[in-house]
Amino acid sequence: MSIPKIELHLHIEGAAPPAFIRGLAQEKGTNLEGVFNHDGSYRFENFKQFLSVYEAACTVLTGPEDFGRLTTAVLEQSIEQGVIYTEAFLSPDFCGGGDVGAWREYMHAMQEAAAKLPQIEMRGIITCIRHFGPDQAKTAAICARETAGDFITGFGMGGDEMQGAQGDFAYSFDMAREAGLRLTTHAGEWGGAESVWQAVRDLKVERVGHGVQAIDDPALVDHLAEHQIVLEVCPGSNVALGVYADWRSHPIEKLRERGVPVTVSTDDPPFFHTTLSEEYDLLGHHFGWEDETIRAVNVTAANAAFCDAATRDKLL
Ligand code: ADE
Ligand code: ZN
Repeated sequence: MSIPKIELHLHIEGAAPPAFIRGLAQEKGTNLEGVFNHDGSYRFENFKQFLSVYEAACTVLTGPEDFGRLTTAVLEQSIEQGVIYTEAFLSPDFCGGGDVGAWREYMHAMQEAAAKLPQIEMRGIITCIRHFGPDQAKTAAICARETAGDFITGFGMGGDEMQGAQGDFAYSFDMAREAGLRLTTHAGEWGGAESVWQAVRDLKVERVGHGVQAIDDPALVDHLAEHQIVLEVCPGSNVALGVYADWRSHPIEKLRERGVPVTVSTDDPPFFHTTLSEEYDLLGHHFGWEDETIRAVNVTAANAAFCDAATRDKLL
């Protein structure tokens, strides 16, 4: 399928090919026991294990140069998938531990790597990690405020949605908004429709990461449609992690039919054995998406992208 694609929800570390992480582990003599299956894929059986394997894999990414190389590897994968614009979640927690000076060096390494690939445009969404708590989130928000600009255009939150409430992080989201950053948060992946309500009410985000459990609350579905709050839907991720038992029971098509603006992303593609082309192929297979639907979804994504108007116009 040759339609140019836009991806709005991709974790830079979560997009690391297992071989890339293994290579760094070997270079550094780091023992990554328990991280990989015998066939070399990432090893986890549920969301909690996923988060801990993810964090273990991150321990081999120890400096700006590693993140520069990672960015190149990830963007090359995206280019292969026909992606022309991508937004990646970048976490100061894994890039210098929240120190602004260190973060700046990591960010420059990623920005420079991205600038070398003219086939794709990248923007960074600084991401705090919910299970690291609101205080740690503030250090991520300060990094975001200090580096907001042409490359860092958004602020968001990932991690374990079952810990705390969205509103516990309002201070950080307010700081990011005041710095001119656009906002998204993971909600309604694990925390139900209530978590999506909290995201729009307490954090005032304009996009929601996943958001799919909104389907369980008709008033919320109406609200998302009425206010055109865009969902970054990652169906393959949801099925791989067991949010939905299979593709047929995934609510993306129901949400779309009810007027909710949906977009399609891969989240952490090598973890979930997926690619963006595979996601669209399966949407075609299970829900009859044709090229016209795929084009329309990518127009939705272009309009929801955290970029300037001139860049957006080039995507449309
Ligand atoms: N970080 C990386 N992938 C994630 C996901 N699917 N949910 C929450 N946090 C994440
Ligand atoms: Zn995610």
